Amino acid sequence: MALYVLADTHLSLGTSKPMDVFGGAWVDYVSKLRQGLSALKEDDVLVLAGDISWGMTLEEALPDFQFLNELPGQKWLVKGNHDYWWSTAGKMASFFTLHGLHKLHVLHNNCAFYGTTALCGTRGWFFEEDKSGAHDEKVFRRELGRLETSLKAAAGAEEILVFLHYPPRYQGYACPEILRLLEQYGAKACYYGHLHAGSHRLAIQGAYAGIDFRLIAADYINFTPFFIKE
Ligand SMILES: [Fe+2]
Repeated sequence: MALYVLADTHLSLGTSKPMDVFGGAWVDYVSKLRQGLSALKEDDVLVLAGDISWGMTLEEALPDFQFLNELPGQKWLVKGNHDYWWSTAGKMASFFTLHGLHKLHVLHNNCAFYGTTALCGTRGWFFEEDKSGAHDEKVFRRELGRLETSLKAAAGAEEILVFLHYPPRYQGYACPEILRLLEQYGAKACYYGHLHAGSHRLAIQGAYAGIDFRLIAADYINFTPFFIKE
C-alpha cells in the first residue's frame, strides 16, 4: 500500500482536445499515463491534483473517468482550473456510483485519511487570476474557506498533506492567505500542478516554513505518479 500524487492528466478521451498537439512531453501522453498509472497496485491511493479531464460535463468526462477507474488504485480527485465538468460533491458521487466508477472519490470541502495521514485539498488560487484584472474576492474567499474546511476535517491526524492545483508560491508570487493556512494547520507538504512546459522553471520547490513544496504536474514528472510514502 502506497500513496502517490499526480496533477494535470488533461485527458480528452470523450472530447477533442488531446494535448499531443502541444508536442514535447505531451506526445503520446495517454500511453505514458497508462504506463505510469499501471505501476500502482489496487490497494494504493493516488491523488489527482486537478486538470483531470477536458470534458465540459460529467458525461463528456465519462471516458476519462473510465480510463482512470480501470487503472489500479483508489483515486482522490481535486479540482483544477480546466475541470469544467466539476459539480457538487453529491452529484459527482452519484454519477460515479451510477457508472460503476468505484475507485473515484472527490476531495471537496472534506479530507481523506490515508492511515493516520490526512489528505486535504482544493483548487487554490493563482496570480493569473489577479493579473487578468479579474480578481474575484468572493471566489478567492470561497477557495480559502474550502481549504480551511478541508484542514479542519483533518483534526486528529498525525500528519497533514495538502494537494492544490494552483501553486501557492511561484517565482515572483505568493498567496499569503493560503500559505498562512498551511502553516497554521501544520501541513507537512504541499503538492501542486498547473505549471507546464516553460513554466516549470518558475516553480519553487523544497522546504519553506517547514512545509515541503513540490510540483507534480504530469509533464514535469514524465506522467508517472510521484511516490509520497508507504
Ligand atoms: Fe494543466
